[in-house]
Amino acid sequence: MPQIKIHGMIDPHTHLRDLDWSHKATFASETKAAIAGGYWAVFDMPNTAPSTIDDARLTDKLARIDRAAHCDWGLYFGASQTDNSAEYERIASRVCGLKIYNNSTTGDLLIESSALRERHYRAWTSNRLIAVHAEGETVANILDLVRKYRQPTHFLHISSEFEIKLLTEAKQDGLPITVGVCPHHLFLSEDDLPTLGPYGMMKPELKRKSDQRALWRAIRLGVVDIIESDHAPHTKAEKEADEPAFGVPGLETTLPLMMQAVKDGRLPLQKACDMVSRNVQRIWRITPLPKTYTVVDTDHTYLVEREKLVTMCGWSPFEGMRVTGKVVEVWIRGHKVYDGERVLSESGFGRNLFGFVA
Ligand code: NCD
Ligand code: ZN
Ligand code: ZN
Repeated sequence: MPQIKIHGMIDPHTHLRDLDWSHKATFASETKAAIAGGYWAVFDMPNTAPSTIDDARLTDKLARIDRAAHCDWGLYFGASQTDNSAEYERIASRVCGLKIYNNSTTGDLLIESSALRERHYRAWTSNRLIAVHAEGETVANILDLVRKYRQPTHFLHISSEFEIKLLTEAKQDGLPITVGVCPHHLFLSEDDLPTLGPYGMMKPELKRKSDQRALWRAIRLGVVDIIESDHAPHTKAEKEADEPAFGVPGLETTLPLMMQAVKDGRLPLQKACDMVSRNVQRIWRITPLPKTYTVVDTDHTYLVEREKLVTMCGWSPFEGMRVTGKVVEVWIRGHKVYDGERVLSESGFGRNLFGFVA
């Protein structure tokens, strides 16, 4: 059975929920799902309930995830509409970065004022990066701020040909930017909406086939640095409501979808592995830990089934799709945390990759 080893898989874009949204998912449930998906570590976004926008809430969230996590982790701090930049100096050493929401999505962290966006860029002087939700023209607005402040910026869930064009040019200009793309934008398109209904609704939305082709081309050309799941669990009731919640889970399907793409000849194996491990480590400046790796059986082909998923939400937009690659073992810091069937690490085993819990 052909097996490969991937050293230190990290998903830097997840929504683990918990806190007041524990009915959707919890730090414990989703860090287990992360391990089942092959991951060493996951970074959690600040659009929780409550939002992670001040020292007290960050400190509380750090303590809670520290007690609950089965895998290693990091937390983002959120830029707020009320301008919380006075907090930055106090919190920067404990987080994986600053998140700025520039277009509307789940949560209440949207910042539309360009003056306020600029205040956040000016105030964030930490060497940790800024991660942005920016879509369409907003990408150009953020690029202006990167040009002015030179703060390393990661563009999350890039989904269109137009955005890829702007980011390709900005990279050619030497701006300190990186680009993440999600499996749902690579493997689904607006053509799937009639079948998926609300289960195909997320931000940014599913796009045209031509956009999808532009994303694959950008992967081949090296414009895309990483694959991130944007794992965003919502309950089935929330998805089937009159106004469905935006977001789809992805922690357990990202690696097998990428391995299927390798099998289909869409990208080289090494590149697929780098995009979920080494490139993420490089961007977030993480030194890979010894004896921290994932063993994948690259021969194993199967269909995505909701019954097999560990995530608390219990559904997937990729259900029924053929994927390749079964995670057979995950090791973290010399401990076997997954045996292909069960998560073996305890709640609280996971550590913050960014500083210590205050
Ligand atoms: C995310 C969520 O549910 O928290 N939803 C989504 O549609 N992607 C938020 C986000 O990443 O924008
Ligand atoms: Zn987003
Ligand atoms: Zn997200």
